[in-house]
Amino acid sequence: MIFTNLKTEIQDSILILTVSRPEKLNALNKATMDEVSACFKWVEQNENIRAVIVTGEGEKSFVAGADISEFLEMNGPIGKLLSKKGQDIFFQIENCTKPVLAAVNGFALGGGCELAMACHIRIASENAFFAQPEINLGIIPGYGGTQRLTRLIGKGNALELMLTADKIDAQKALQIGLVNYVVSKAELLPFALKLMAKIVAKPPIAVAQTIAAANKAMHPDGYEVETQNFSVCTASSDFREGVMAFLEKRIAHFTGS
Ligand code: COA
Repeated sequence: MIFTNLKTEIQDSILILTVSRPEKLNALNKATMDEVSACFKWVEQNENIRAVIVTGEGEKSFVAGADISEFLEMNGPIGKLLSKKGQDIFFQIENCTKPVLAAVNGFALGGGCELAMACHIRIASENAFFAQPEINLGIIPGYGGTQRLTRLIGKGNALELMLTADKIDAQKALQIGLVNYVVSKAELLPFALKLMAKIVAKPPIAVAQTIAAANKAMHPDGYEVETQNFSVCTASSDFREGVMAFLEKRIAHFTGS
């Protein structure tokens, strides 16, 4: 699919989605957010895509936040709409049935950090920085950040980041569980592709059901969803194949059915 502010490339069933407004450090303006939404609709429909890696153009920035130049028109009601729309688009990513990994290659600030957190897994290059600096503008994270950051790194760490606006480097992000790995700039994409290739080899129904159940962690109906999704998996051919392959001491061949 062709976009203005996104670049897409499919490598071995893995879509590399690059946010590309390098002159604005890949800030998410409205047009880019609409494209992200359209892109994830396409991902769901496209059978040739089994996983997604989200990254940013250039070596300096993953995404430097929502586009602040569009903030001047904001007032209470418009702010509410903007936040709701941003949340809905990031829910599309979080609820994607295919695994989504953020390869954070520089600044992940504000909406950029929120974008990375909407992805299922995060890895960072050594030059990555994370922050939720919204408070400096007199606002709060509005694309799901107050919730996802608190779930990922705990309330104390999350409130410190949101209330101070401090930038943390990749090592600190690793230490508090915001990212799973820190690798060199050169290794970021190869490492991300290798990790996703491992997941792409797994049975797709079970992958999708795992993501959906994990998304319900900390929700009151989480255990119920786990049972329901477990039963969906046990009805699949890939489940039979996985069990038979183990018993017959051979490699399983999954078909996604
Ligand atoms: N929204 C809109 N434009 C942005 C942006 C954002 N979030 N972040 C960076 N840009 C633009 C700058 O305005 C500048 O544009 P210009 O060349 O037309 O003036 C360009 O990107 C390069 O940024 P610049 O500030 O010159 O780079 P820097 O290396 O000096 O600083 C940052 C980098 C990331 C520290 C700085 O750009 C910054 O603080 N950005 C805002 C981060 C933020 O608060 N994000 C959360 C928003 S809720």
